[in-house]
Amino acid sequence: MPIPSSPTPAPKKLYVKTYGCQMNVYDSERIEDAMRPLGYLSVASPDDADLMVLNTCHIREKAADKVYSELGRLNEIKQARLAAGGDAQIAVAGCVAQAEGPEMIRRQKGVDLVVGPQNYHRMPALLARAAAAGRSVVDTDFAVESKFEALPNRTAVGRGPSAFLTVQEGCDKFCTFCVVPYTRGGEMSRPAARILEEARRLGDEGVRELTLLGQNVNAYHGDGTDRADWGLARLIDGLSAVKGIARIRYMTSHPGDMDDALIAAHRDNPKVMPFLHLPVQSGSDRTLAAMNRKHTAADYLRIIERVRKARPDIALSTDIIVGFPGETEADFEATLALIGDVGYAMAYSFKYSPRPGTPAEGMADQIPEAVKTDRLARVHALLTSQHAAFNAACIGRTLDVLFEKKGRNPGQLIGRSPYLQSVHAEAPERLIGQIVPVAVVSCGLNSLGGTVAAS
Ligand code: SAH
Ligand code: SF4
Ligand code: F3S
Repeated sequence: MPIPSSPTPAPKKLYVKTYGCQMNVYDSERIEDAMRPLGYLSVASPDDADLMVLNTCHIREKAADKVYSELGRLNEIKQARLAAGGDAQIAVAGCVAQAEGPEMIRRQKGVDLVVGPQNYHRMPALLARAAAAGRSVVDTDFAVESKFEALPNRTAVGRGPSAFLTVQEGCDKFCTFCVVPYTRGGEMSRPAARILEEARRLGDEGVRELTLLGQNVNAYHGDGTDRADWGLARLIDGLSAVKGIARIRYMTSHPGDMDDALIAAHRDNPKVMPFLHLPVQSGSDRTLAAMNRKHTAADYLRIIERVRKARPDIALSTDIIVGFPGETEADFEATLALIGDVGYAMAYSFKYSPRPGTPAEGMADQIPEAVKTDRLARVHALLTSQHAAFNAACIGRTLDVLFEKKGRNPGQLIGRSPYLQSVHAEAPERLIGQIVPVAVVSCGLNSLGGTVAAS
């Protein structure tokens, strides 16, 4: 008698939309990994998805507002499916889910599941529970078990040669403007053995570049494979030996955790890319103190000096907040002066956005919107000119580019320079996943153009 084969679940369609930081990008991939054993395949549009997931960000008010308008759109799709006799579920994950919990279901009844960033490994069970009970489910208690241990193995297949790898999560710094310590919880570092295992799998599947992620990645302190406590530099050292891995990046770092060993890695380890994202937020010591950043402008500049000494060509990047409560014109000018002193290759700048439950929300002397708008425009103009100058200085140089995917024009590939610039060049598809010298011949604000140099 033929043995009946076990039934393969019919493929279902999963749509995931990601907001916010790189950690959310990593989490979205892991949500796809968590749902794959149940037969879910990812699709690019919510229109006929069986499960729609918004992986949300709470960092600024605008980011959170976008979620509700998108949920309204997804609910229309869901209601149309139900009216036609079909079915669909909506899940909200990420930092808005963590911050707002059951409130989300009150505001949008179509939501089936609200799940926090430490709990999404439970999604298959939670969605089944919601379906069986015919009601919405909320899970935002910080899970005692680690999601990293509970998730199925990571795969890089179909995701390109550059991968994110979360090594650290959460934050104990409590900058007075920031929601992250509340939405992601306290600092936690994954054991080095598990990170190395994930990296080896990625390397075997064709990944060449790892970006190590953490809200405070340079605060990494995990159990080492030798039972010693490993900092980020030691972890990077271990990862450098993984087969296939040719490039290592890390983000986001806090100035207070930029130790000598990590700075030395930029000098001594050729796999550590010459790029550092080191948020400063403000150039005024008064504002930095009110932000509880725990460093002064001079402290920050000293770190930059040490980093540049270790790796003179390093590309520096930062985050700036303008219009923090109490910020005077003189404070703001100190920020412009610091930016002028450093000379950034790229940077992000934001208007201060009061966040519920954070100390700065209740501070006196909130800055009028018009002043924030004006300061943002000024800081943005300065940062844009530095960015353009950094890119322009690359014309005539030959940079190693890791080609990641096909470009917009036929015959073109797109990749990244060591300095994280996007570079496009005419190149055959077989070069995807390879690091190739490219002579840079042109530059725009968002990318460089080049020609593949004979190697
Ligand atoms: N852990 C990182 C960054 C976390 S959030 C760090 O220590 O810097 C990313 C950026 O968002 C921050 O660097 C900050 O510039 C910005 N940001 C955070 N909260 C904000 C708020 N309430 N308003 C405006 N920008 C904010
Ligand atoms: Fe937020 Fe500050 Fe922690 Fe960065 S260090 S995540 S800005 S609280
Ligand atoms: Fe946003 Fe949460 Fe990341 S608030 S920036 S998605 S840690």
